[in-house]
Amino acid sequence: MATRRNGESSKITVSLIKADVGSYPGHTVVHPDLLETAKREMAKAKQQKTLLDACVLNCGDDLELIMTHRKGTDNRTIHQLAWNTFETCTEVAKKLKLYGAGQDLLVDAFSGNIRGMGPGVAELEFTERKGEPLVAFMMDKTEPGAFNLPVYKMFADPFNTAGLIIDPTLHGGFDFEVWDIIESRKVLLHTPAELYDLLALIGTKSRYVIKRVWPGKGHPKLPLDEPVAAVSTEKLSLIAGEYVGKDDPVALVRSQSGLPALGEVIEPFAHGHLVSGWMRGSHNGPLMPVGFKDARCTRFDGPPRVIAAGFVLTNGALTGPVDLFDDPAFNPTRQRAAEITDYMRRHGPFEPHRLPAEDMEYTTLPKVMAKLKDRFQKAE
Ligand code: F6R
Ligand code: MG
Ligand code: MG
Repeated sequence: MATRRNGESSKITVSLIKADVGSYPGHTVVHPDLLETAKREMAKAKQQKTLLDACVLNCGDDLELIMTHRKGTDNRTIHQLAWNTFETCTEVAKKLKLYGAGQDLLVDAFSGNIRGMGPGVAELEFTERKGEPLVAFMMDKTEPGAFNLPVYKMFADPFNTAGLIIDPTLHGGFDFEVWDIIESRKVLLHTPAELYDLLALIGTKSRYVIKRVWPGKGHPKLPLDEPVAAVSTEKLSLIAGEYVGKDDPVALVRSQSGLPALGEVIEPFAHGHLVSGWMRGSHNGPLMPVGFKDARCTRFDGPPRVIAAGFVLTNGALTGPVDLFDDPAFNPTRQRAAEITDYMRRHGPFEPHRLPAEDMEYTTLPKVMAKLKDRFQKAE
């Protein structure tokens, strides 16, 4: 944490904390009353000077709190504020009898840090530059590993990010902090030198997930101890030990001026790559980039969506959001994703539309297998 004045850092922290605390008609969209409630809670926190600024959005059934402050990451006050806001929204959801009211709040009471309690968290603490463009990505009906491919492309693939070739300030590359979410361990890999090792891990996206990206050694413009991207890596099934809901992930990415340009940050989503987590957390499908108004997973509870909210920071204030995928240039991706949806759906319950057996461990499928267990006989 940087120098503190009155317990506050000179650096800005952006905290993106999300939870599904109820939606309608099924796991579809957040009700406007929940959005209003969350906005009111955020406005109060701003008035009390807990927050510098806040923006409330939804991606499908997930309520998204984008907050700025000077308290650093993993701060108790900020996490408590998010938790209380989700609890207040849960009360509203219960009154309206919304579907899955309070579903992501896995414990009864807040205990210091919201991580491991159900909600997803992505946080960045850094010194605000003269111009500080920031993108908040929010996904629905998928898992944290869905960010592996696009974040890799942003910071390590010269076929995506022209700046890795053209701009000498990017030539030192970037460092990827990868978490093994099954065994709770992490490793730092430097690109471009360790690109193959990085890909060997993050291709296994249900286990190895990119948590943060850091400027590479000797970056001429950025402090090396300030991350440039962060992804939420919470897996609800690993916390609860059973299928309890979705890990729909979020990410924060800084851009420009020694970092990938804004267009290079959003370009990987023109692919519509295949991700896991669609329908009952059990299916693969294409990730469709959409404008805010289309973040609404209806067909077969999907296909999975991603929205991108663009901001510049103005002394900690969030100037924006700009709805970055609300652009006809992404129409062909959406069209292709709809076609891939048709193709995948025709596989019905067969892999690779349905996830492989090892990834089904935390779904409701093992209960079906248990029922059949005693029916098996030895085959010759
Ligand atoms: C939730 C999701 C949905 C649900 C499905 C069944 O984000 O992915 O596909 O898994 O609608 O939900 P339940 O079990 O609540 O009836
Ligand atoms: Mg839901
Ligand atoms: Mg969701």
